[in-house]
Parts: sequence; C-alpha cells; structure tokens
Amino acid sequence: MSQEKILVTAALPYANGPIHLGHLAGAYLPADIYVRYQRQRGRDILFICGSDEHGVPITITADNEKVSPNVIIDRFHEINKESFDRFGMSFDIYSRTSLPIHHETALDFFKEFNDADLLVEKKSMQFYDNSRQMFLPDRYVEGTCPKCGNLNARSDECENCGSLYDPSELLNPVSKISGDKPELKETSHWFFPFGKFQERIEKYINEMDEKYGWKDNVLQYCKGWFSSGLQDRAITRDLDWGVKLPIDGVQNKVLYVWFEAVLGYISATKELFRLRGEEDGWKDYWQDPDTKYVAFIGKDNIVFHCVIFPAMLMAWNDRHSTKFVLPQNVPANEFLNFEGKKFSKSRHWGIDVIDFLNNFEADSLRYTLTMNLPEYRDTDFSWKDFQAKHNNELADILGNFVNRTLTFVHKNFDGKVPPLYSFDSRDDELLNLLEEYPTKVADYMEKYRFKDATLEIMNLARAGNKYFNDSEPWKTLKSDKERCSTTLNLCLQTIYTLAELFMPVIPNTSAKILKVLNKRSVEWMNAGKMHLNEGDQLGTPEILFKKIEDSTIDEMKKTTAAEPVIDGEDFEKLDPITIDEFFKTDLRVAEIVEAERVKKSEKLIKVMVLLGKEKRQLIAGIGKAYEPEQLIGKKVVMVANLKPAKLMGLESQGMILAVETLEGSLNVVEVDSSIKNGTKVK
Ligand code: MF3
Ligand code: ZN
Repeated sequence: MSQEKILVTAALPYANGPIHLGHLAGAYLPADIYVRYQRQRGRDILFICGSDEHGVPITITADNEKVSPNVIIDRFHEINKESFDRFGMSFDIYSRTSLPIHHETALDFFKEFNDADLLVEKKSMQFYDNSRQMFLPDRYVEGTCPKCGNLNARSDECENCGSLYDPSELLNPVSKISGDKPELKETSHWFFPFGKFQERIEKYINEMDEKYGWKDNVLQYCKGWFSSGLQDRAITRDLDWGVKLPIDGVQNKVLYVWFEAVLGYISATKELFRLRGEEDGWKDYWQDPDTKYVAFIGKDNIVFHCVIFPAMLMAWNDRHSTKFVLPQNVPANEFLNFEGKKFSKSRHWGIDVIDFLNNFEADSLRYTLTMNLPEYRDTDFSWKDFQAKHNNELADILGNFVNRTLTFVHKNFDGKVPPLYSFDSRDDELLNLLEEYPTKVADYMEKYRFKDATLEIMNLARAGNKYFNDSEPWKTLKSDKERCSTTLNLCLQTIYTLAELFMPVIPNTSAKILKVLNKRSVEWMNAGKMHLNEGDQLGTPEILFKKIEDSTIDEMKKTTAAEPVIDGEDFEKLDPITIDEFFKTDLRVAEIVEAERVKKSEKLIKVMVLLGKEKRQLIAGIGKAYEPEQLIGKKVVMVANLKPAKLMGLESQGMILAVETLEGSLNVVEVDSSIKNGTKVK
C-alpha cells in the first residue's frame, strides 16, 4: 500500500443560497470521486470543505431579506451541509469561516504581512451610498464593464471578461441598495503587492504543469492574467460583516472575503484536528513538502487559487522555515448549464440539490453528472438526457447485468457461487479484461478524467452483458452444466470488479452489490482478481435502478425550467372560464397565527391559519421571502376548498395565494387587517 499523503480541498461555497447541480459538476463531484478513488488505493488523504460565510454575497442576501447575515449563513450552512451529505460527499470536515479559529488564522496572515511591511496602505475612491451612509464594495454596485460592455459588471471587477478596473471607470453605476447612482468617496485600504510575485507564480505554474500536467483551460486563464500583469489589490473592505481588522482606530473594515476565504481551507483543517484532539495534526498535511495538494474548483475561481492563494502562501513561506505546500494541481472545470441556459436563481432556472434528491437517488445524479462533466468545455444538463442515462445505462446495462446474473444463480445454483471448470477463449478474454481494468481506470482517475473513467467502467458492464449473451448459459445449463457453471462464476467475478471500480462514482450502488455478494472491498489494484469462492452464499437480488417514467420527467421539467411571467406576455391567449367555474374556487380571508420552517426545506413554511373559528394547517412555499415570525398576524387569501395534500410528509389543508417576484420568491397576497377571518373573496 502506498502511503502518499494527499490533501484535497473543494471550493468553499457561499452560504447565501442552496447549491445546485452546476456547483456539483464544477467542483464537488469530481473532488469526491478523486478522494474516494484515492482512499481505495489506500492513500493517506484529507478532504476539506466548508461554508464561505463572509463577503458581499452574504450581506446582500441578508439586506434583501431584512435579516442579519447570521440568519442567512446559519440557514444555508445547514442546507448545504445536508445537500452534500445526501449527495454522498465524503468530506472529512465541512467547516465554516465564521468560526473563531478561521478569524484567528486569517488575521495571523494579515498581521504577518503587515508587520513585514509587505502591505501598502493606500487611499482610493470607492462608491458610497449617501442615503444608507455606507460604502458599496464589490457586488453592491452594478454597472457596465468599461472593457467588454457587460451590463452586470461589479464595482471594480467584471465576471464576464475577467478584468479589474478602478471603480471610477465603471459606466452607469447603480447602488444595489438604493437603486441610486452612487458617488465616489475617499477611503483607505491595505493592498497586497501581487505584482511582486508574478514572476515566481508564473514559474511555479510552469513547473507544476511540466511535472503534473495542468488542464489547458486553467493554463489559459492564468496566461490571460499574466499578460495583463498582476496588480496590487486591496485586501480590505469597508463593511461590518467579516473578519475585522485588528488595528486600533480602524472601524468597519474587514478583510476582503477572497483573502480570507482561501485560508479557510487551512483553518478548516485546524478545526478537524482540534476535534480529533491532535492540535498540531494539520501541519502534517499543510506543512509537509511531500504532501500532494489538489484544489478542486469551478472556472470562476481559477485566479484565486492559481494566483492569489499561491502568492499569499509564498509571502508567508518567505518568512518562515516551515513552509506551506502550494497546490500541485488545480483541475478546474468549466460550467454546467441547465436545459440550454445558465442556472439562474432569479429566473427560476435550474434545480437545487435538495430538491433533486427529494425526487431521485443520489447515485443516478452522480452517474449522469459524471458522464456529463464540463471537464473541457461547458456542458448541458437536460431532463431527457438524465432519464436516458438512468434508464438506458444504469438500469439496462449495469442493473440488468447484475440482476440477470444473480437471478440465474439463485434459480439454478441455489444462490451459491458456482464452481469454476476449464476456461475457453471467451473466458480468458474476460479474465484478461478484468485484470487490466483497475490500471486502466486508475490512469484516468490520476489525470482527473472522471468522465472517461466512468465511461470505461460502464464498458466493462457492457462487456459483461455481451459475455453473458454470447455464452448462452440458458442453453449450456442443459447441454454442458460445467460450462454454464464457469460462465456464471465469471459473471459474478465481473460484478464484483464492477462494484469496486464504480465505488467512487456510485458508492451506494456499489455498497448494495457488495452486500449481495457478501464481500468487502479490497485495495483498488486488486479489484480485477477473482475474489468470490465456489460455494459462497449470495444474498437475494433487488432491482438496483427503477426506470424513470416520461410523466415524472415532464413534471420535473415543468417545475424547474419555467420562465417567470414577464412584461408583454400575451394575455389574450389565456383559456377563458365561466363565472361559475371561477366560483368553484372558494377564496377566503385567513389570519396567520403560527408559523415555522419545515425542517430541511429552504422554501416551505408550515403555518396555522384561522379561518373563521376553524384552525387549519397549511404548507406554503413562501420561505424564501419571509422569516416565520414576519408572517404572524398577516391576513392572507387562501383557497379554502382545495383537497388536502401532503408536502414533505405534512398535510396542507388549502393554499395561500401568493405572487412570484422577479427574484423567484413568493410574496403572499395580503388584505387589510380590519377584514374578518373567513370573509369570502370574490
Ligand atoms: N465562495 C466562493 C464561491 O462560491 C468560493 C470560495 S473558494 C475559497 O465562488 F477558497 F475561497 F474558499
Ligand atoms: Zn467585462
């Protein structure tokens, strides 16, 4: 067993919203496949992730909801942790940057750089919102990019073309808080001299690429940064949410979220070892020159992981004898689109991980996403393709091979592994294939080519089915029982190998198969050997993958890829109904008297309403727009004669009328508080 030490990090997602399939395909699924594979190789590996809980993405979400940032990060940290868990992410820790250990770590770095006079304090002009009396960093201002014309550029950075500029260059700036045109006001910030590190970073990336083969898309992004020259960048912001600067007389300044978030990997590792009671254990990974550090991210994070973070670590290492390791590889993916368009929360386009897993198995999603990873270019998730991959590959190829083999063995060999007799050329061919498979798949895994790896493994299941067909055991059962016995034995050995090799991709399915085979997992490289012995008892087969019906897919399509109502919609085309039909709907005024969030749901709130004297329980999808407390006392309109329905196991006895906002949240229709409960609406 090789004991190579590996440190794997996956980008820390902002705790300002639920993660969706695009996030999984960009960074998390590839990271998890890699880690699970390396664990099967017996390697000493750590897998680090957590929530990124500072920065403007968090405060803007909090502002929109009129709650404190703490409410937002607590909510989404839990939701995302749960989503990852149910998706099968095997992190060693899912930490948070709001923990004291992170604040300390980040400040250590800041103080170190400041004491060494590496940082420069500079005055500059920043956008300022007069009505709210606050500075407007980053996403608080939107305008037109001076370089590429993108209409949604941020105050000093454009996501579209990747350029950085002075806020004064942004065209048509608008404050996201007041909608006004912000003014420029002087403030001072600490700048990190990234330019000083450019040469060394270029050299580092070239070296890593030569030795370990970096991905072209990643190298291209880096080249772009180097050719325009690295600039000094402000690493502080005028905000009161974040890691506060420890400098006397300085108020309302925090570290720039990116400066501290990347350090979150280190503090999360510290936290992990603190919990394990080995305070210094983190150093064995971060500060051992033999550690192989791999950072998994989506393409929008490349500059921060290939330039900014390495520069910070270099600056630290220059001043210390124990040095941090730099990423040996950053296998960033491109983006996954949804039904041909970008995922968009505000346009209601796409699906969150939790919602997906409330409808389908994690392994179906893991497999279909892996076969569709944006490893080289943007790819597209479509419901039809999901259904096809699940039905035609997971169910018809893998599921079928496992099921037909086990059923045959139960029917004709008492559910025991049949004996082996002499091999014919077809058997030899299959045995050779099994022998070479672990190496073949490992080669792809080591090169971060997870899609090719998975395609190969599914090809082994195809080969298994072909072997079964060509061997015709249903005929040899009568004509040559020894032949039949050998065939089935080898089919079972193939299933074992499939379970082992598929483990990183579809761990639940592999566990189920191993359970039926009554076998444990072995070291990866031995997965192609024969592990099942004649006479071993097998469990009863269950269907691994139930087919997904067209109607299910149509339903999902409707709810996840629905464009909201927009101006200019053709209202004339609406289907007319008669007044009698309208009056079948019994609309009543009701008063909300109790409200609480439905556990593990971002959207659902359980409310109790008074309808006249009657009390009713309703499950309403209004959790994006309201905190439960805000709802108490509101008089709303409800459909009082709707058949009761169950949502997440809870009965809903009616429906509250609500309107969808452009942000995609639902606002309840309210009536004047003087109107009595139970009053008819007509
Ligand atoms: N929160 C960032 C995002 O969602 C990623 C941060 S990665 C880290 O894009 F390394 F900075 F933590
Ligand atoms: Zn631009």
